[in-house]
Amino acid sequence: MRAQILGTGHFLPDSVRTNDDIAKMVDTSDEWIRERTGIRERRIAGPELQNSDMAAGAAKRALEAAGVDPREVDLIIVATVTGDHPMPATAVLVQQKIGAPNCPAFDISAACAGFVYALTIADSFIATGRARRAVIIGVELLSRILNWQDRGTCILFGDGAGAVVVGPQEDDSAGASAVLGTSIHTDGSLAPSLIIPAGGTAKPVTAEVLALAENKVFMRGQDIFKVAVKNLTSTCKQALEKGGITIDQVDWLCSHQANLRILDQVASRLGIAPDKVLTNIERVGNTSSASIPILLDENVRTGKIKKGDTVLMCGLGAGISWGSALIRL
Ligand code: ACO
Repeated sequence: MRAQILGTGHFLPDSVRTNDDIAKMVDTSDEWIRERTGIRERRIAGPELQNSDMAAGAAKRALEAAGVDPREVDLIIVATVTGDHPMPATAVLVQQKIGAPNCPAFDISAACAGFVYALTIADSFIATGRARRAVIIGVELLSRILNWQDRGTCILFGDGAGAVVVGPQEDDSAGASAVLGTSIHTDGSLAPSLIIPAGGTAKPVTAEVLALAENKVFMRGQDIFKVAVKNLTSTCKQALEKGGITIDQVDWLCSHQANLRILDQVASRLGIAPDKVLTNIERVGNTSSASIPILLDENVRTGKIKKGDTVLMCGLGAGISWGSALIRL
């Protein structure tokens, strides 16, 4: 049994932080950030918002779009590295906030690849008949785990959530909505290049940890940049092969928004036309696991992505973990 996406939704906090705002905090400039990343501004959650609030907001909109009652939901997967608490999972809080019944609900941690990982898991649950109405959410509240004195990282990230509802395909005719192929990978040898060194059990928080900001994101950006283009291109090719289609049959590339330069190079290596490459990094920055479903829903709601369109999604982040998913909407 194939899975299909039944509805999409997203949630962005209202508060905007521009490059000029950040240039008042660290030694950087709007020009440098735009040239090196493509980012102009990002959304930042106020103190009243938790990760699970954004996740529930996106999930409710996706359920509404799918015409699915929360009481029908039989699986919730939240992809996040910025959950409300180390324990319990944020998915259990989302279950309560959306009014879903006593269904399995768990988190996965695959950073910017989180959404394609979660979609791959949900696809397997649907394929084996273990779920019929799965809510998958990519959500991050990265602004609370950034070192706002580190110009190499604080310029990149933003907060937000995106969600999809997944169910079994009801119509298996050619051209019907479906998850056509997925591909996920991990290379743990690069774990030290993008890490929050302390705050877990390996190195609990101490006064020294706080003084050194070791409980915040540390990244060697160049290490990630080098592998991102190569790995994202290869995983996209794998999803295309699994789906049995060629790149010219893809309507939209809906990639994780890490850096416009990475995106341009992946698109060029794949040979996809620039007008098929969707972006919102200039407005929302890198929202890690939330970026693909936010971008997907924005373009579904404006009518740019239409029913029956073929969409290629890909993401790569801490781990490093990466993956792709090819869907027909
Ligand atoms: N403003 C001004 N100058 C800066 C800034 C800044 N914000 N940040 C770095 N610089 C300086 C550096 O100090 C360096 O100066 P130097 O030459 O005097 O030493 C110079 O700019 C070049 O620095 P690089 O780090 O080489 O800059 P680069 O072009 O690589 O851009 C960036 C940095 C944007 C972080 C890039 O490497 C990148 O996007 N990497 C990939 C990030 C990514 O995809 N992460 C994975 C997803 S995130 C996740 O999983 C949660």
